Amino acid sequence: MYIYTHQPEGKPERRDPVNTTIACRKAQLSDVEALYTLIQGYAEKGIMLPRSREALQRHIESFIVAEEDGRLIGCGSLFRLGADLVEIRSLGMAEGYKGKGLGSRIVDALIEEARNMGVPKVMALTYAVDFFNKNGFEVVDKEIFPEKVWTDCVHCAKQNCCDEIAVLKTLA
Ligand SMILES: CC(C)(COP(=O)(O)OP(=O)(O)OC[C@H]1O[C@@H](n2cnc3c(N)ncnc32)[C@H](O)[C@@H]1OP(=O)(O)O)[C@@H](O)C(=O)NCCC(=O)NCCS
Repeated sequence: MYIYTHQPEGKPERRDPVNTTIACRKAQLSDVEALYTLIQGYAEKGIMLPRSREALQRHIESFIVAEEDGRLIGCGSLFRLGADLVEIRSLGMAEGYKGKGLGSRIVDALIEEARNMGVPKVMALTYAVDFFNKNGFEVVDKEIFPEKVWTDCVHCAKQNCCDEIAVLKTLA
């Protein structure tokens, strides 16, 4: 488990668990309702694809969450697309918690998961290109990805006019 202190002026530092309030950890089934609410809020704004409670339960192990004093304040998940490729999905911070380095910490934790799985390529489809650039991803042509990347798009209102940008990080 990753534990970070909350540093309002910059990115949180990793610290000893004592006296900490914000943690990044793997999600548990008890997180499903809070995950659903966070993701649904962004889905209604067209920023994320919706996830049903059932889908969240089924894929709970793929989620990393950030929490403050037991309250879920951010999330991200990793979806396997092939032997050498995973996708970051459902990445979002609650209002009031953006710009504090926590999204980057969740991405770090997801990349660590990809490493542990032995998967060398991590991609995302996003509007937050600068955020991913700052986390070591580069913009790539969507066409390089396998068909499986697009299976989720049937749930998207913009499936025929997708304006998301593909980003990729190849792990050393
Ligand atoms: C995108 C998001 C997850 C980033 O998390 P965060 O905790 O706010 O990001 P960080 O504080 O780690 O930011 C790291 C850098 O990325 C930049 N950044 C953050 N959000 C950004 C965005 N939406 N677009 C472009 N750049 C962004 C920050 O300016 C910051 O740069 P700095 O270090 O030079 O100040 C968060 O802003 C969010 O929840 N956005 C709404 C949902 C969303 O767009 N999700 C992405 C779907 S793939």
